[in-house]
Amino acid sequence: MLHYISMEQKKMLLIGNWKMNPRSMEEAQALALAIKKQSKVSARMDIVIAPPHPYIYEVRRALGAKFLVGAQDVSSEKMGAFTGEVGASMLESVGVTYGIVGHSERRARGETDDSIEKKVASVLKTNMTAVVCVGERERDSHGKYFGFVEGQVRSALRGVAGSKLTQVVIAYEPVWAISTSSPTARPATPEDAHEMVLFIRKTLSDLYTRASAERVRIIYGGSVDTKNISALLQGSGAQGFLVGGASLRAHDFATIVKTLYAF
Ligand code: PGA
Repeated sequence: MLHYISMEQKKMLLIGNWKMNPRSMEEAQALALAIKKQSKVSARMDIVIAPPHPYIYEVRRALGAKFLVGAQDVSSEKMGAFTGEVGASMLESVGVTYGIVGHSERRARGETDDSIEKKVASVLKTNMTAVVCVGERERDSHGKYFGFVEGQVRSALRGVAGSKLTQVVIAYEPVWAISTSSPTARPATPEDAHEMVLFIRKTLSDLYTRASAERVRIIYGGSVDTKNISALLQGSGAQGFLVGGASLRAHDFATIVKTLYAF
């Protein structure tokens, strides 16, 4: 049986997560301009750059209208006495359309499933899309990591209505695959990523309906670079990628964009 998937949801999604880089606004502008110049972009794909908060406004201006801008974290609170926090509607007001929530580097600094659930809810009160990061720290031979990832998905979406799923992206990012997580970090194989993409899709179907689950884009992140993007694209079944290190190198990022277009 065929399920309705809107054109929006079918679009590939590529997110460049700059993390706490680069060093200055000048460097951020230069990187954004280089990415803009070297990446061939069309409406067939959503390309999002997520810079550190202070650079968002200028990076968005430098990138121009063909790119989208994301935030690396979003507060669970709307506004008020929450020193250091930045709320979803504030981000939306400077043109942010994607909010990354629950990245493993934030979980490692104390983010809990409960706070992630609240952050997702706060993003969904705006028109922004929540990019919910899930992924196991390590794999065991009994497949317990599937249950772990399922728990993260279920908890982040607690209270999210099926009608809101068009505003949700799940990013499968196994911690062991993130380039900076350890000296032995390696990308997931396309087969391993594919298995998890199917598993997350099934989890979403169990939580909602199959048709609703189909509307959620499931993307992969962890050591994605110019060397492995083709294989991951062909074998993982992911509808996009969350790229860290390679998004700081304009030429590499542009090569990834090009590979996605050629697919
Ligand atoms: P990486 O980072 O591409 O450098 O592994 C991905 C991420 O942490 O989002």
